[in-house]
Amino acid sequence: MTIPNILGDTLTSHFDLIREIEIGLLDKSPSISPKFLYDPLGSHLFTAITLLPEYYPTKSEKEIFLQYKNEIIRTIGVGGTLIDLGAGNCQKAESFFNSLKPSSYLAIDFSIEYLKEAVTKLSGKYPHINVQCMGMDFSKKILIPESISENKRVFFYPGSSIGNFLTSEALHLLRQIKDQAKGGGLLFGVDLMKEESILKLAYDDPLKITAAFNLNILNSVNSLLGSDFNIDQFDHKVIINHNENRVELFIETLEQVTISWPGNSRVLKKGELIHTENSHKYTLKGISELLKDAGFLKTQIWTDSKDYFAVIYAQ
Ligand code: TRP
Repeated sequence: MTIPNILGDTLTSHFDLIREIEIGLLDKSPSISPKFLYDPLGSHLFTAITLLPEYYPTKSEKEIFLQYKNEIIRTIGVGGTLIDLGAGNCQKAESFFNSLKPSSYLAIDFSIEYLKEAVTKLSGKYPHINVQCMGMDFSKKILIPESISENKRVFFYPGSSIGNFLTSEALHLLRQIKDQAKGGGLLFGVDLMKEESILKLAYDDPLKITAAFNLNILNSVNSLLGSDFNIDQFDHKVIINHNENRVELFIETLEQVTISWPGNSRVLKKGELIHTENSHKYTLKGISELLKDAGFLKTQIWTDSKDYFAVIYAQ
């Protein structure tokens, strides 16, 4: 068995994570960082979300990748290093291996645990590709190790993850990618603004898989912080914020509760909301301006037949 090269792991200590959760819970407007959504169960629930008929981003992106694959490959050009931000199970990147023919593949994710298994399988399957992985909280800072060749770095950021950042944070992230791509570029997905009813269903499906995914963050917090959230006392809540062009995800408190954890506690009133994620929806004009601001001079955009989603290669 080929063991992939592990270049580093997240340096955030357990203490820092606990501190971050506490600060969020004690705030006047309480929040929990979305990165805590993706514990092992959360990661599997998210995979289930991507299979739901209501969750259009995965389907629209797939349609674009299928229909425009050759054009996308021609635009990027073969070879180079494929750098996968938020690689997860590495499946999306793998679907480009045979056509893009990268000489190296660097899979990056917040949790190296979930990555290791996928990356080990990949390096056995593609012995001619130099497969490496890294744990990194790239929402704070992207730092690609110097050992990664500067010749044609192609960053890959599919899904609608860029929308999970505030526009100012997205700009900061894009600037860092532009800087570290050297002469390469960024292939990424962006979700487009659309009718409210479609957004509502995508983020609050009738099977309640999205509700389970969102509420599971409380289990994830309980095991990290030692808190006593009881899922029965909370519900999943979606607000479409038209002023900010985003879907806002919350956990709503169904009755007054006191949450306790070692060293502290917090009273939450009935109806109080804990914020978990923002999902910004862009217009093509808006995302083009953002890319220009970040220093990308050339962009190519592909959209699906319903104009729900866009895939962009920015250089
Ligand atoms: N990045 C995904 C998105 O914005 C995450 C997501 C989907 C999500 N459904 C959710 C996050 C529900 C929190 C709650 O589309």
